[in-house]
Amino acid sequence: MTMDIHIENLPRTIELVADEGGPVLRYVDQRLLPGELRMEQTRDWRTVVDAIKVLAVRGAPAIGLAGAAAMALWAAYDGKGLEAASEEIATARPTAVNLDWAVRRTLDEISSSEGRDVSERLFSLVKLMEAEDEAANRAIGENGAALLGAESRILTHCNAGSLAVVFYGTALGIVYAAAAQGKIERVYADETRPVGQGARLTVWELSRVGIPTTLICDNMAASLMAKGCVDAVVVGADRIARNGDTANKIGTYGLSVLAKEHGIPFYVAAPMSTVDNSLPDGSGIVIEQRAAAEVLPRAIEGVDVWNPAFDVTPARLISKIVTEKGAFSPEELAAQL
Ligand code: MRU
Repeated sequence: MTMDIHIENLPRTIELVADEGGPVLRYVDQRLLPGELRMEQTRDWRTVVDAIKVLAVRGAPAIGLAGAAAMALWAAYDGKGLEAASEEIATARPTAVNLDWAVRRTLDEISSSEGRDVSERLFSLVKLMEAEDEAANRAIGENGAALLGAESRILTHCNAGSLAVVFYGTALGIVYAAAAQGKIERVYADETRPVGQGARLTVWELSRVGIPTTLICDNMAASLMAKGCVDAVVVGADRIARNGDTANKIGTYGLSVLAKEHGIPFYVAAPMSTVDNSLPDGSGIVIEQRAAAEVLPRAIEGVDVWNPAFDVTPARLISKIVTEKGAFSPEELAAQL
């Protein structure tokens, strides 16, 4: 039975718009969700860098777009110290390759412009990247939906939905495409400690679209699988090495081990821009360490906190990597490169 879903209830997460006097970046401040859906706007590239660092804008493709847009704002309103500005933007967060990739695209555009119309050219490039993002997500959605059976119960982690991209989503893009085909019974969303992207963002997004959703604590996934309630695990990615090793939100690796134990397929959904061709395997992926206060808001003397934001899932635990070009086993993905 097809499901009535309402993608149109989701905002565009991030968008560069032409305003009187120049470009303005509009974005959802994700720290305020699910309580408040607030669109911020800025003309200041440094504000965009801060928004990335504090997770107001988050999710690999969304921070990539934010990086490119920051470069367009730099070109429109600043224009000084290209090297330092681009470095500051590209390194706002280290793990998602999309940020560095997007800033490099703007640098290539600046080089080829030979100093002419730099601001207009970067504006057009960012608009092109926004359109490419949505098109890639919709293709990922179709390619992933084809892997799912009828009445699928999906477990997802973190937020790899529309809020993590310009529009539509990668892992949740697969859910949306499959739901439109009547293939989704329910999505289980991990809370995703310590920042709560699942509890705050994924369930908000799924409920707005109209997908039956159940929130679980991260430590409930094993029991849920053991009870036979999960048909597939679908997650996003921040950086995929050439051999398919995949960095994603901390806790993803654990889920892949559990999925293997229970014989459940484990799918990673990401655009090709998340594949880092320079890395032979996941050992070279830099894992962002975040503040202790995310885990322990009130410090306790003598207690240290370890807070890596991401982990690396070995390729051998991944059934398919679903991209806009198709769904590939890790070996097949390497052949695509
Ligand atoms: O720290 P975050 O919230 O930026 O982490 C996001 C994730 O790990 C997502 O799963 C990943 O970026 C893919 S988003 C399509």
